Amino acid sequence: MLTVLDSINLSTEYLKKKGIDSPRINAELLLAHILKCKRLQLYLSYDRPLKENEVILYRELLKRRCNFEPLQYITGSVEFYGLEFRVTPAVLIPRPETELLVETVINEYREKKFVKILDIGTGSGNISVTLAKLLPEALIVAIDISEDALIIARENAEHNNTSDRIQFLKHDILANTPLADNNFDVIVSNPPYVTINDYANLDNELKNYEPTIALTDQADGLSFYRAITSKAVNYLKNNGKLFFEIGHCHSLQVEELLSSNNFKNIRIIKDYQNIDRVMIGEML
Ligand SMILES: C[S@@+](CC[C@H](N)C(=O)[O-])C[C@H]1O[C@@H](n2cnc3c(N)ncnc32)[C@H](O)[C@@H]1O
Repeated sequence: MLTVLDSINLSTEYLKKKGIDSPRINAELLLAHILKCKRLQLYLSYDRPLKENEVILYRELLKRRCNFEPLQYITGSVEFYGLEFRVTPAVLIPRPETELLVETVINEYREKKFVKILDIGTGSGNISVTLAKLLPEALIVAIDISEDALIIARENAEHNNTSDRIQFLKHDILANTPLADNNFDVIVSNPPYVTINDYANLDNELKNYEPTIALTDQADGLSFYRAITSKAVNYLKNNGKLFFEIGHCHSLQVEELLSSNNFKNIRIIKDYQNIDRVMIGEML
């Protein structure tokens, strides 16, 4: 009989041979998912023998991971800003960099009583749900072009008890139809910003599994920044602020878009790797 420790050791070797990064953590997280426990709890049950059905399921999940299916789609969940989010291939897997975007909004509005926020390209709802959780009087409109993504986002809002303050709407921000709502204090967006050329060179793990419409605008990576900066005047209040996540090489161009659309006090925040990651502009 294979014990928990034997299985982790064998699977780590197998994942390593197949070229999976961080094989030990992957092996542990997949087993923890099967045993419905936290990864660290595995350490307390190293001698526990695995049941036959657990071994069969573990093999299946390891095989999927070896095909470079992202771990988060296999387990169906991800942690973002300390909250749990369900993810499926309909939504982008929330990235740690995006926590900086959310943190920046929270730091700016923590003292304000009421904030009205528009989240453009909500995906799994990670930004909206986290903001609703940490800014308890915020009212949020979250839009996405993908109906399938909105289904997951609504589930995540329910799961994190924030659904009463988030309205999820299907809306194409690149189209000419205006949103019915306006007078927002904040627009926040992590739009698809990978250029068509960079998209071709992305790892298969992203290209084969994550939604293409969440990653790239099929152009120069700036389409959403152009559309959002030019439409923002219709949606933001005076003194309203726009918060963007930006790609590693877009800083100058996005800054120019903001200033040519009358945004003032433009600021850039770097991430922990010292890369320009968040851009803020004020509509004065
Ligand atoms: C980079 S993902 C961001 C997802 C999530 N907000 C996050 O930070 O992880 C971009 C999102 O924009 C959505 N999207 C793509 N084209 C759109 C459009 N024309 N109008 C509105 N949303 C769009 C995608 O479906 C996707 O959910």
